Amino acid sequence: MPKPFIIHDPYFEKAKRMWYRARSAFKLLEIQEKYNVIKPRMNVLDVAAAPGSFLQVIAKIIGPEGKAVGIDIQKIDPNFGFPNIYLLQESVFEYEKIQVFLESIGFGRWKSAIEFHHFDLITSDIAPSTTGMTGVDQYRSVELNLAILDVAKVFLKKWGNLVLKVFVWEDVNDLMWPLKENFNKVSRFKPKACRDRSFEEYFIGIGKK
Ligand SMILES: C[S@@+](CC[C@H](N)C(=O)[O-])C[C@H]1O[C@@H](n2cnc3c(N)ncnc32)[C@H](O)[C@@H]1O
Repeated sequence: MPKPFIIHDPYFEKAKRMWYRARSAFKLLEIQEKYNVIKPRMNVLDVAAAPGSFLQVIAKIIGPEGKAVGIDIQKIDPNFGFPNIYLLQESVFEYEKIQVFLESIGFGRWKSAIEFHHFDLITSDIAPSTTGMTGVDQYRSVELNLAILDVAKVFLKKWGNLVLKVFVWEDVNDLMWPLKENFNKVSRFKPKACRDRSFEEYFIGIGKK
């Protein structure tokens, strides 16, 4: 028999105890344990960052010499207690507005004659508002992730990594193929912190071409 849907599960309680803004923090921590994608001094863009638990994990690891940038269609409370977090309230489909913002904080620009200012890593935990129709929700997830891939094509450095949350269903190759075109390797990973019933997985694009 399927397990009943429990919102206040052990990860939710643990997140509260550890002052994480959401239980998603534990998914990123599992990804980090397996792939070691976040390193001290990195510049990291987190798309779909509200309420901000990925940013809490990222800011702690990159330290004061790195920068973490969070974008979400929802407002993110800026009181993280870290000085190096930059926030934008915008939809991922508004590419030009995102570009203007990222350029205003120095990304996507030449730092010097030879050094272009890119992100070392882009993460995303994006989730469409769900309709309950699996095929529709999955396709929206693919569309959102394709928009993030467009940002990564310009703002992620060569050899940089991309972490995307995907609602896996039959159209998933519409995302997998473009990812394989742009990354040397694409791994699929389902953290234990993902709810049993969910279709979500994380796709890790390793080494941008
Ligand atoms: C599961 S939550 C992210 C949780 C976050 N990773 C954290 O650790 O706190 C999914 C997020 O996707 C965002 N989202 C959905 N559609 C979006 C869009 N078009 N542009 C930007 N963000 C979007 C939602 O607003 C929501 O905050």
